[in-house]
Amino acid sequence: MSETLLLEAVAVTKRFPGVLALDGVDFKVRAGAVNALVGENGAGKSTLMNILSGVYADYEGTLKRQGQPVRFAQVAEAQQAGIAMIHQELNLVPHMTVAENIFLGREPLNATGLIDYPTMKANAKGLLDRLQFDASPDSLVADLRVGQQQLVEIAKALSKNAQVLIMDEPTSSLSEKEVELLFDLICSLKAEGRGIVYITHKMDEIRLLADYVTVFRDGRFVHEGTADSLCLADLVRYMVGRDTKDFFVKTQHAIGPERLSVEGLSLEDAAHPGQFILQDISFSVSSSEVLGIYGLMGAGRTELLEALFGVHGKRVKGAISIDGQPVAIRTPKEAIHHGLALIPEDRKRDGLVLGMTLEQNTSLASLWQFLTYGLLSQRKEHKEAESYRNSLHIKSHSCCQQAGQLSGGNQQKVVLSKWLLTHPRILLLDEPTRGIDISAKNDIYALMDKLAGEGMAIIVVSSELPEIMAISDRILTLCEGRLTATFDKDAFSEEAILKAALPGCKEGDVPR
Ligand SMILES: Nc1ncnc2c1ncn2[C@@H]1O[C@H](COP(=O)(O)OP(=O)(O)OP(=O)(O)O)[C@@H](O)[C@H]1O
Ligand SMILES: [Mg+2]
Repeated sequence: MSETLLLEAVAVTKRFPGVLALDGVDFKVRAGAVNALVGENGAGKSTLMNILSGVYADYEGTLKRQGQPVRFAQVAEAQQAGIAMIHQELNLVPHMTVAENIFLGREPLNATGLIDYPTMKANAKGLLDRLQFDASPDSLVADLRVGQQQLVEIAKALSKNAQVLIMDEPTSSLSEKEVELLFDLICSLKAEGRGIVYITHKMDEIRLLADYVTVFRDGRFVHEGTADSLCLADLVRYMVGRDTKDFFVKTQHAIGPERLSVEGLSLEDAAHPGQFILQDISFSVSSSEVLGIYGLMGAGRTELLEALFGVHGKRVKGAISIDGQPVAIRTPKEAIHHGLALIPEDRKRDGLVLGMTLEQNTSLASLWQFLTYGLLSQRKEHKEAESYRNSLHIKSHSCCQQAGQLSGGNQQKVVLSKWLLTHPRILLLDEPTRGIDISAKNDIYALMDKLAGEGMAIIVVSSELPEIMAISDRILTLCEGRLTATFDKDAFSEEAILKAALPGCKEGDVPR
């Protein structure tokens, strides 16, 4: 494997007010190789990448570009040096087109000095084709799904002909198909001699992609080695600094009475009348039960939770009962009134007020709990936020820290706390552990287990098979908007569940 160093960080330290985010870390980007950077939420991964790509100029230590010390005072300088970053939070301009976003600030000009739109569009089209992404260069970015926006970011990085590409959790909102395309692309970028930095919490991605693995913990460098010399147990030990407990084992709670039942639920596609996003779905979930919903991206998982939560209003047909009583849920407000809560997948969008503190964010969805004679009890608010901060190990210097200052994964945990605090009777969770590190995942599983033990009925969507098998009492599989199978705990098998979720598998092929 080649050892040409494209970019190197030596003894880099970065302080934020009250936080030492990086403490003398080293990091290397080699030509033709992927260096996966891993570590728990708040380990300092995004911070280092922001330094490599010129976002933060005030740090101690040295960056070397092909052996020469460099210092980027701004993003444009890093770009000039061939370094491009695809951010964890997307950085596009929503009301501009795909082509305009890709070439923002570097638009091709014609002889009269005006933007040469035909060339710009043609160049954009070439890049999109390379990504096998069939959006038009004229589409508005605001009209694209998050996963597609991510592809635009990647096209933008390619357009700069960057030698070093930094990807911060790039697959968190991509579909399986888009992930495959991205992985193919990374392989071809490697073959061209580019260096890739790949930040992820997903162990299977490390196995598939990484040539080198670097581990940070609490802002410190812990380990770097070749990926094939590292086993999972070692990796986890480097990340958390101790041997981990075995994978979460669920408590077997006595399942209570039936809480929610759904008969013949359908959801018509607003854009294509006569077509259905969900069709004829019937199931129930009981008190103290965790019902897992597994399906591939696009199977209708998120839409099913949204339909139950009243997001799709009257477009949802079918009968829903709660505690044996028929109910009509046409709005999220009605859903909340009936004791439902939905923790959405896109937690960033529906999630946090970045300028408010952690505890203010935590209480936001359940302020009524904190009112005494109409006044907000800050003591109570503080106590609840503090208890979630401890149980989910939210890394922050206190509950009074601004949410905007937390790392990506820790922000996710605050959003989770906020919804859990609403104490619903029926909790709907959509991919609750996305972007969350390995040990925090276990904390979330344990919390779900505790809530089930207290009688809550829980429906959880996950696209990770080992996860959903570990946390559920029963699993339903969805495929192309239909329920294809139901598995009781003793019938859980990765192969059977996956088979039931794959298109082309007919009802009756799998156990019900
Ligand atoms: N703008 C900021 N102001 C203050 N503190 C910050 C800021 N950005 C990051 N931090 C702190 O720096 C530390 C490292 O954060 P960073 O975002 O680099 O973590 P990360 O490894 O990317 O985590 P995640 O996996 O959750 O994305 C955290 O303690 C975080 O709270
Ligand atoms: Mg991060």
